[in-house]
Amino acid sequence: MSNDPKTADTADVLVVGSGIAGCAAALAAAREGADVCLVTKAARPDDASTDRAQGGISTTRGDPRALKADILTASDGTADPDAVDVLVENADAAVEDVLLETLEIDFDSTDDGASGSDGASTFDYAREAAHSEERILHIDAATGTHILRPFLEYVDDHERIEVRDDTAALELLTHEGRVHGVVTDTDPAGHPIYAGTTILATGGIGSLYARSTNPEGATGDGIAMAALAGADVADLEYVQFHPTAYAGSGEPFLLSEALRGEGALLRNGDGDRFMPDYHPDAELAPRDVVARAVATEREATGEVVLDVDPIAFETEFPALAEACRDRGVDGDEIPVAPYEHFLCGGIDVDDHGRTSLERLYAAGECARTGVHGANRLASTSLLEGLVWGLRAGEHAAGLDVDAEILEPPTLRNSDPDLPPRFAAEKFARLQRTMDENLGLERDLQDVARAAGVLRRLKGEVDAYVRTRTARDLYELRNASVTALLIARAARENPESAGCHYVVDDAPLAR
Ligand code: SIN
Repeated sequence: MSNDPKTADTADVLVVGSGIAGCAAALAAAREGADVCLVTKAARPDDASTDRAQGGISTTRGDPRALKADILTASDGTADPDAVDVLVENADAAVEDVLLETLEIDFDSTDDGASGSDGASTFDYAREAAHSEERILHIDAATGTHILRPFLEYVDDHERIEVRDDTAALELLTHEGRVHGVVTDTDPAGHPIYAGTTILATGGIGSLYARSTNPEGATGDGIAMAALAGADVADLEYVQFHPTAYAGSGEPFLLSEALRGEGALLRNGDGDRFMPDYHPDAELAPRDVVARAVATEREATGEVVLDVDPIAFETEFPALAEACRDRGVDGDEIPVAPYEHFLCGGIDVDDHGRTSLERLYAAGECARTGVHGANRLASTSLLEGLVWGLRAGEHAAGLDVDAEILEPPTLRNSDPDLPPRFAAEKFARLQRTMDENLGLERDLQDVARAAGVLRRLKGEVDAYVRTRTARDLYELRNASVTALLIARAARENPESAGCHYVVDDAPLAR
């Protein structure tokens, strides 16, 4: 470790995270002439949620007002209209610039080569739940993979961007309310990287729940690090569950909403289609409504299946069809259940991704921009990560501040070995607490008790963090901090909206 300005690790802009938001932030900062360091604990692309994004990335197809209206409706009227304006007004230009022109992503196009209704393209625009029209660009149902991998290659090859993978950020370096970089785990005693500005793009919180569509590393790292440093967080009670994760034997995976967009139907254990009883838009109702309905029907009738008979499953969704075959599902009925999918809240940021701490930015799932409110519209997460990643990267580089070398960080590693199974057992307790009390429905008295359990768990973990820097310990620390913040946010909000459904407070459908 060096704290000598000549030899210390420094960057103009430091990005933490390698999903679409992190890559976009790094690209934008480098375009502004900044020297960028991107650190990521991921060792492989599929360690980022972006790589698992299926349905696609929404565009406006030239009608930002219509997309805005759908986002506001899906959010139960809770999204911030000004933030949504930023998203929809920048959406098409960001997609055009980065995905089409820079990365040359080959989105699916129509078979017959006919122009879309805007007359300008041949894209095979898809539709998903709560979208009023076909406007989603996709590649099969594996859009995230097809975006992230070329994006990582591009960033890796960029002369102004240094990528360090398998490098976890452990703590933010702060001094007098400013953020000056991070301490990483590449040295047992903590290795600092000093930066003029720091952008967190660390993704979501899937590992706080036993069942999630996220990769295992989704442990709320950025949210916890920012909150511990004093940054404002918001909307953390709004945890979104995807209604249709594969729930049969074998590895779980997501069954994209695009399937229902094409006409796949949900049936209960009695073989009956049930969504029309819950919402006028049936299978295309907002995601929170469908998720709760699926859970209710599973409990009442034993199972829920996605019936893909009405659609050309094999030819339109070959990757998903193959995943089903691999798990021995033959026939048209695929067992499904709601799994944790996306956190709508996070580190509070403005329209340039600025947090409440000086020189700290956030983008992507770890950030709360206000775009999603209480419930996110399908295929807006890649878009939000792209738009806010670009804006944060550009703004952070524009501050044009040099990295300042601070006092050495104070991490200690005097007693490095954790007791066997320590992290696994504490994680299991954390997930049980979240599953039982902070899932699709919340009883606020149970939530208050859960907050007590999580506070004690965090205390136990903190005792170990004082003397150790193991990555799994820090992930557990981050997960327990974020879980406690989620429980507190839920406890303090008695009103049902979107994903925060308080029992006894609201009817199931809306
Ligand atoms: C899906 O393909 O259903 C997921 C898309 C999203 O979460 O936006």
